[in-house]
Amino acid sequence: MRNIEKVLLHRKSKKIFLVKDLRDNFHTPFGTVSKVDLQNSQDMIKSDKGELFTILEPSFSDIYPHLQRGPQIMIQKDIGLILAKTGVNHNSRVVDAGGGSGSLCLSLANVCKEVFVYEINPEHYDVVQKNIKLLGLTNVTLKQENVYKGITEKDVDLVTFDLPEPWLALEHTEKALKTGGWLVVYLPNLHQVKEFLDATKKTKIHVLETIELLERKWKIEDKIMRPEFEMLGHTGFLTFARKL
Ligand SMILES: C[S@@+](CC[C@H](N)C(=O)[O-])C[C@H]1O[C@@H](n2cnc3c(N)ncnc32)[C@H](O)[C@@H]1O
Repeated sequence: MRNIEKVLLHRKSKKIFLVKDLRDNFHTPFGTVSKVDLQNSQDMIKSDKGELFTILEPSFSDIYPHLQRGPQIMIQKDIGLILAKTGVNHNSRVVDAGGGSGSLCLSLANVCKEVFVYEINPEHYDVVQKNIKLLGLTNVTLKQENVYKGITEKDVDLVTFDLPEPWLALEHTEKALKTGGWLVVYLPNLHQVKEFLDATKKTKIHVLETIELLERKWKIEDKIMRPEFEMLGHTGFLTFARKL
């Protein structure tokens, strides 16, 4: 069960607030929302400072920015491409390693049937576990295990690796994937990509493409219409492969 009862969206700032308990008054920098209003209001609510909030049902995209952070997460621009290219859906079974902070594996769990997550570090394991609970996901199996030592799952549609030496798990990936299944590897450095490509040569894993995505926001205000000076540049190389 999701442990967020409601989401409040402050209309002026567009800031999101997660309400965990409707039996308490809820405090925000824009004033306090009373528990009576929280329990009885439908679409809109006003704080004691007269600030307006829209009331929303909790959704993945509203809770996602509030997930606890441990190690460096995979950014949504890269996650989006994985979802689009592999076409995973409500029937898909997926293996992800390492879990890290859960940004990738929980985004996968939001659309897939089942996600099996390998995370070797106990502290990161705890972060993912807390984030699973916050989102109320019930289709994630989290394992505190070294994925280089093996993958138990069989017939999976997608394996994703965001860890330093994915080639050490290639043999296990071959056994875990169904024919036609996808392997997506996310690596920050090109020499790692090369090592991965070389390692696939004697396997059933066929590499299709390696992609780097850049994201640039624009500033659009009155007479200003230009790209932002700063942008999300290099995060990592995404290599897409299939078992054939
Ligand atoms: C960069 S983080 C992954 C971030 C994650 N994709 C996300 O979106 O939040 C890399 C993670 O891989 C884990 N890891 C490294 N080697 C591993 C292994 N052999 N088996 C399982 N997890 C491993 C690390 O502990 C770390 O948490």
